[in-house]
Amino acid sequence: MVICPERPMTQPAATANTPTAQEAAKRRTFAIISHPDAGKTTLTEKLLLFGGAIQLAGTVKGRKASRHATSDWMAMEQSRGISVTTSVMQFPYNERIVNLLDTPGHEDFSEDTYRTLTAVDSALMVIDIARGVEPRTIKLMEVCRLRTTPIFTFINKMDREGRPPLEVLDEIEDVLGITCAPITWPIGMGSQFKGVYHLLEDKVYLYEGSDNEGGGRTVTLDGLDDPRLAEIAGHYYDDLLEEIELVREAGDGFDLEMYLAGEVTPVFFGSAVNNFGIRPLLDAFVEWAPAPRPRETRARDVAPSEDALSGFVFKIQANMDPQHRDRIAFMRVCSGHYAKGMKMRHLRAGKDIRINDALTFMANRREAAETAWPGDIIGIHNHGTIAIGDCFSEGEELAFTGIPNFAPELFQRVVLRDPLKAKALHKGLDQLCEEGATQVFRPLHNNDVILGAVGTLQFDVVAQRLKSEYNVNAGFEAVQVHTARWIYGDAREIRRFRDRMDTGVAEDHGGALVYLAPSRVKLQLTEERWPEITFAATREFN
Ligand code: G4P
Repeated sequence: MVICPERPMTQPAATANTPTAQEAAKRRTFAIISHPDAGKTTLTEKLLLFGGAIQLAGTVKGRKASRHATSDWMAMEQSRGISVTTSVMQFPYNERIVNLLDTPGHEDFSEDTYRTLTAVDSALMVIDIARGVEPRTIKLMEVCRLRTTPIFTFINKMDREGRPPLEVLDEIEDVLGITCAPITWPIGMGSQFKGVYHLLEDKVYLYEGSDNEGGGRTVTLDGLDDPRLAEIAGHYYDDLLEEIELVREAGDGFDLEMYLAGEVTPVFFGSAVNNFGIRPLLDAFVEWAPAPRPRETRARDVAPSEDALSGFVFKIQANMDPQHRDRIAFMRVCSGHYAKGMKMRHLRAGKDIRINDALTFMANRREAAETAWPGDIIGIHNHGTIAIGDCFSEGEELAFTGIPNFAPELFQRVVLRDPLKAKALHKGLDQLCEEGATQVFRPLHNNDVILGAVGTLQFDVVAQRLKSEYNVNAGFEAVQVHTARWIYGDAREIRRFRDRMDTGVAEDHGGALVYLAPSRVKLQLTEERWPEITFAATREFN
């Protein structure tokens, strides 16, 4: 653990002084990562409340409920009590503009979450003090690592009895491989929770039950031996001093650079449901979290301050409005400036399109976007022509990299109940693939259509949407596929591989060659037999 109050801890000012550079420097675009039930929804709501984006607690859950009610296929979510969709929420805070990208809670839709993480500049990890590091958190951290995403940590539910904070921090360090730098430290927990001591401000934020709407009362101390601290901490005082000493001795400094490099995470304690500990978290977050940074494309790095607009699509959401059967493509702006009515080039299609009706997303509503700047997300109406990974620019070929397609973990063969509907089936599957709702593999050696998914619910969603949107009655049956690997290597070697393998070679939706391994052992043997070929568990969209 590391802590050091001395270092300068503000972001360097924007280098260029153009409107684009200034607007980009204000943006903080992030997602919350957590295991289900740690408190992501509650914290999201409280952040919106503190950001003034909503006035009433309960709105986010309300949003969940109304979203369920407005769409056919989400009726399924409702019956299962899960949230499938990702949405974007923007609010101003301390002269910054915060874009919070919400992610589905259910792990069956984790691909959606993974891709959303490609569109953020940082993440906020929520950990339940009683449960510590949980499996979903580990997986999401792995994804954050792919792009060295800087991570803030909020340790939640301090109003409940949990594990000793030091033990939980040790676990984060050991399991997630990231150094913890506590910025606040809890005084007691459960029914004896008194508040948090802010190590940098030398201030105690007092916990007064659920009455913390405005952030609660604070006491500014004159060092740890201030008698008021002893009074507040009561019999926890000695423990508190000892823990803070340990925390301070353990390392040689919280370093903004190390945080930005994804090596150190600043840690805050609190109780989201009681609005507690959120103000210090949000204050530090808008200060330290990175503004949009340059992004890689195949050709060159694109700086956010560049004047020409560029961006990429990380999510397609269907049926946001069942009356219109619309699809919305969510585009992350990487550089430049979107203005209503502007023309931009859809690079894959090679077409210029004029966008008059892009959307921005506020807490619980969407509205027409007049402008958008780097870090912002706009929603583009789409009738099946835009796919995940598609890039937009003002003309230059800028294919943003780092938007991964992950190998599915579950596979099923599609069984078409009405053979006359084959065309509609393929059209439906193609579109669902473009939305990232599923992955399709077409084996070279037979006419099967194999669907891949990360979670079983994805199959249900596909079956239901094929029926309601394409009038196709399809089912699924088991197929002997354990995993998929994208195949890369020398063209001749790949051709030899394709010719020698009797089964297991398929094309994905984009025509890329894939090996469908029937078992883990078979995959290992095949990898050993073909050392010149790379068997990759992810494929980049661009
Ligand atoms: P998730 O999105 O990460 O899945 O978690 P969510 O916010 O839905 O929170 C899961 C449960 O934990 C909820 O209780 C929520 O009220 C509770 N919770 C969140 N933060 C805190 C906290 O700081 N302290 C305590 N004690 N509980 C917290 P629930 O019973 O499942 O739902 P509800 O009926 O309260 O809405």
